Amino acid sequence: MLGQCQRRLNRRYIALLLFITVSVFLWNGFRPQDYYRTTRVGAVRYLSSSYDWSKNPVFYPVKDMKSPPAAEPKVLSPVQFKMGESSENHRSLARKTAVKKAFIKSWEAYKTYAWAQDELKPLSRKGKQSFSGWCAQLVDALDTLWLMDMKDDFQLAVEQVALIDWSRTSDDFLNLFEVTIRHLGGLLAAYDLSGEHVLLAKAIELGDMLYATFDTPNRLPSHWLYFNKAKQGQQRADDSMSGAAGCSMSLEFTRLSQITGDPKYYDATERVKQFIYLNQNNTKIPGLWPHVMNYREETVDKAMFTLGAGADSLYEYLPKMHAMLGGLDPEYAQMTTLALDTAKKHLLYRPINPKDEMILMAGNAVVGQNEIELTTEMQHLTCFIGGTYALAGKLQGRDDFVDLGSRLTAGCVWAYDSFPTNIMPEISELKACPSIDGKCRYEDLKSSASKLPPGFTRVRDPRYLLRPEAIESVFYMWRVTGDEMWRDAAWRMWEGIIKETENDLAFASVSDVRHEGSDQDDSMETFWMSETLKYFWLIFEDHDVLNLDEWVLNTEAHPLKRPKS
Ligand SMILES: *[C@@H]1O[C@H](CO)[C@@H](O)[C@H](O)[C@H]1NC(C)=O
Repeated sequence: MLGQCQRRLNRRYIALLLFITVSVFLWNGFRPQDYYRTTRVGAVRYLSSSYDWSKNPVFYPVKDMKSPPAAEPKVLSPVQFKMGESSENHRSLARKTAVKKAFIKSWEAYKTYAWAQDELKPLSRKGKQSFSGWCAQLVDALDTLWLMDMKDDFQLAVEQVALIDWSRTSDDFLNLFEVTIRHLGGLLAAYDLSGEHVLLAKAIELGDMLYATFDTPNRLPSHWLYFNKAKQGQQRADDSMSGAAGCSMSLEFTRLSQITGDPKYYDATERVKQFIYLNQNNTKIPGLWPHVMNYREETVDKAMFTLGAGADSLYEYLPKMHAMLGGLDPEYAQMTTLALDTAKKHLLYRPINPKDEMILMAGNAVVGQNEIELTTEMQHLTCFIGGTYALAGKLQGRDDFVDLGSRLTAGCVWAYDSFPTNIMPEISELKACPSIDGKCRYEDLKSSASKLPPGFTRVRDPRYLLRPEAIESVFYMWRVTGDEMWRDAAWRMWEGIIKETENDLAFASVSDVRHEGSDQDDSMETFWMSETLKYFWLIFEDHDVLNLDEWVLNTEAHPLKRPKS
């Protein structure tokens, strides 16, 4: 009798034990058989990817492998304003704490409802796979966790990263640009901050896979890496790909070469740079690149030019690469100067506005038979450009660029302040003054759109997608000038954004910033935690954290270490 009871109890223990074991496996999001493939790295179990891309045959080998410049890095002009001991005060501390609270709320929601998936759907409380299913949100948030001193969660995330198998995905392709800026940038930044080797190991595995996208007859990449094609040498450079998608992976690939000492990653993006360097004067607006280019035939004859969608980070990476290479490659400085001077001439405009403020915006240009036609629209995406002008101006001693950066950033702040929600819409239209300087009369604007804020003639896309570009430029202006005015602008933007995007669980895109309390959409993109919240937090944090004279941030706000001279 007693024996039977004991046996039943034992069976229960065994069942419970089995249940716990299985739960732990499922909780960690990997299949039981994977456990036997893992190795121990320090305190972490590491799963190597099931396909080793470093062993993939190279079908179009490079003959003259280029290495990052090896000389002693130059001393570049300081980017940051020389502030006193600390820029922390009672008010900035309270604001920084509010930002961190919003980050914790977003992170906890992701942890609970979307752990190890690419994104959280904040209304349906579910996860979503949007970038091949390699924990995009988690990788993207690693460095923010570290910076905000959430070290336990950082460790939890590292353990999950260690289990990513880049060759296990439901797709048979990947998006080279999106994966580079999020996953590769996120891993390298978190490694640069923490020195955690697991992160570097995963970055190398990923870098070797992404490198296969460049294995084409002319060694220029395509938008997509098709795994099977790449294994058979059938990848071709794209005949139509945006400037941003093709030309903004240089920071991540260069940093990977600098850390590993293997030049091949740098060589890959250096060839893309040669393509745009040699063609900067061969376009319909010499100095700028059309938003779409033919990487296969290496031609640049399209007629549309913008600093916004499709082109943005191409321009952003020019001064940042100048910094990343310690000023040792003069071609980046040269391209930056020419591009920003030309953009001033053809893309920047001053919107007609009630108080005749000297603000600026960047529109689009289409080259026709005899003329260049400027479209005076305003994309939220374009708001990064103020920061780029300011950074380039500091690095290259061009005060006029810093001034343009300030006026462009003020334009975005003005747009935020203009709407009743204190948020600027995704895309709107305005009217241009005759010139970017001089007097400009508001009466000239025959406002047909009476329900819109003064100055705006149309709102083409009224959504706010939790985007970072405006606060990104405010961050640069704050670090460059030390003027508290930028911190106050940031706080106004913050209050507007939180009021409209917060819900019980987390934060969500809003569908119409023209009205308070507008509907929310079921989306919280990964850049919310990697960029938007990070920039807000950094503005109220001490100015020495991620000092821009020591770090350069990629286009997903992942900080990479600049070389020391
Ligand atoms: C493009 O033109 C500018 C002057 O207009 C010149 O300084 C620059 O060197 C040219 N770029 C190339 C690659 O030839």
